[in-house]
Amino acid sequence: MHKVRDLKVLYFGTPVVLISSRNPDGSANLAPMSSAWWLGQSCMLGLGDSAQTTANLRRERECVLNLAPSSLVDAVDRLAMTTGAPVVPRHKAEMGYRYEPRKFAAAALTEQPSELVAPPRVLECPIQLECEVVAAHPFADHNASATAFHVTVRRAHVDDELIIPGTRYVDPIAWDPLIMKFCEFFGDARNVRSSRLAAGWRMPHDLRTPAAFS
Ligand SMILES: Cc1cc2nc3c(=O)[nH]c(=O)nc-3n(C[C@H](O)[C@H](O)[C@H](O)COP(=O)(O)O)c2cc1C
Repeated sequence: MHKVRDLKVLYFGTPVVLISSRNPDGSANLAPMSSAWWLGQSCMLGLGDSAQTTANLRRERECVLNLAPSSLVDAVDRLAMTTGAPVVPRHKAEMGYRYEPRKFAAAALTEQPSELVAPPRVLECPIQLECEVVAAHPFADHNASATAFHVTVRRAHVDDELIIPGTRYVDPIAWDPLIMKFCEFFGDARNVRSSRLAAGWRMPHDLRTPAAFS
């Protein structure tokens, strides 16, 4: 039976994207995000206004969307609770976020030069989309001010092993995206590790297998 619920979180499950952008000093920033959806060769990205990535996208109008496979969950989690913003916003500091100017090193990921945009790709990600910002729309609700960035894909790089031979299609069996569902990480429909973001958000769920994670 359905009941009316006042749901606090509506994160039903979306793929994790490591978005790289360029800082004012020319260095690379890298942030995990998952409010992303695709339509044709465009993508819509939901980013909080206090993120360094948001400032970088407004200024530089370029980014790379590096799609994280479930095998990169540890690297993604190392970036959780970090920001490339030198002054950590108060609400993030209260959650335990820290300033991290060297995101690639912190995540133990490798910068790979892009071909059409300035921000680097993440070598370890088998799908990398070089993108240009087309438009930025204010997107606020009662507890967050955010921006919806419309980006268009200028060049897609995909590992050969993910392509159905002789086609222009990604093999949905071979591609195992890391999925963020209610702040927890899933791959192959399984919870693949505990999540620092979920801890920061004080999510109430009980995954029942805490001994599996260390
Ligand atoms: C798995 C995961 C998914 C996230 N999804 C989003 C998102 O969709 N939008 C957003 O604004 N922040 C998201 N965050 C939080 C950002 O990573 C966080 O705001 C971070 O400080 C941004 O980094 P930056 O300030 O260097 O840009 C997510 C974090 C994690 C770990």
